Amino acid sequence: MSAEAVVEEEDRAAYAGVLRFYELAKHQEWAVRDVAWGEKPPVPEGKGSPERQARRRDVWRSVVMQQLQADVLACEMAAQLLNAAPDPEARLYYSTMVQDESRHTEAWLKLIGGLGGEGERDPHLDKLGHLFLEADTLEEKVFLMQVFFERLIIPRFRLIARSSRGTVLEELCNRLAVDDGIHHGAGMAYERVLLTDASKKTKDTLIDAANRMLPEFAAHALWRPKAREMIGQLMEARDRERLKQELDHGVRLAKSLGLDVSEVKIPF
Ligand SMILES: [Fe+2]
Ligand SMILES: [Fe+2]
Repeated sequence: MSAEAVVEEEDRAAYAGVLRFYELAKHQEWAVRDVAWGEKPPVPEGKGSPERQARRRDVWRSVVMQQLQADVLACEMAAQLLNAAPDPEARLYYSTMVQDESRHTEAWLKLIGGLGGEGERDPHLDKLGHLFLEADTLEEKVFLMQVFFERLIIPRFRLIARSSRGTVLEELCNRLAVDDGIHHGAGMAYERVLLTDASKKTKDTLIDAANRMLPEFAAHALWRPKAREMIGQLMEARDRERLKQELDHGVRLAKSLGLDVSEVKIPF
């Protein structure tokens, strides 16, 4: 083997982690038709008067709407990552992530179609989307979406799944928790490579990005549309406690990438 070929091979070894997530993503790939549509209720069925049932359905519709909104934004973000990443392993991987986010969107559109259609948008989620889409560097985009957002969202899927046993919503949340686990893992693997030779300046921009994102993520996690205002007040103390643990975990992840997180401010 020539010296050049050896160098090339060593270079690519750094990307083996990213390639593993490409293979994992292919292995885990599912189709919207695999979901047990029609075999179980779309969301938990309400009891009591028709008004009460309608109110319950509105609450679930708002839960699904937030996920649909997140995945439509994720389609745009994944497409940006695919376009911005120069490395062949990462491009291969991102081609699967674009398909995942698009499939998630298709499933939510199908689900919300049976619940009365789309509802109120979460303004914080739109702001999070803009933070990401307007970030200047690939390092920042991978950091905001895959290291933070997709990791922080997994416990939320588990939470929704636990309160919607035996429904299509539960099944989707479980499938998406697995997919986003892969998205997060791939992002960690790629970010580690991207940061190997990164300057202090680049690393500092990531901390700034985290400080812009965390308060917005907190506001998103605690946001309640009109349909959920009542429940929102009852749950807020517990929500805040759980959210604080999740954000702390996000900061530990940033630290594990070799970032100096002493400047990260947890919003409460
Ligand atoms: Fe998704
Ligand atoms: Fe995702």
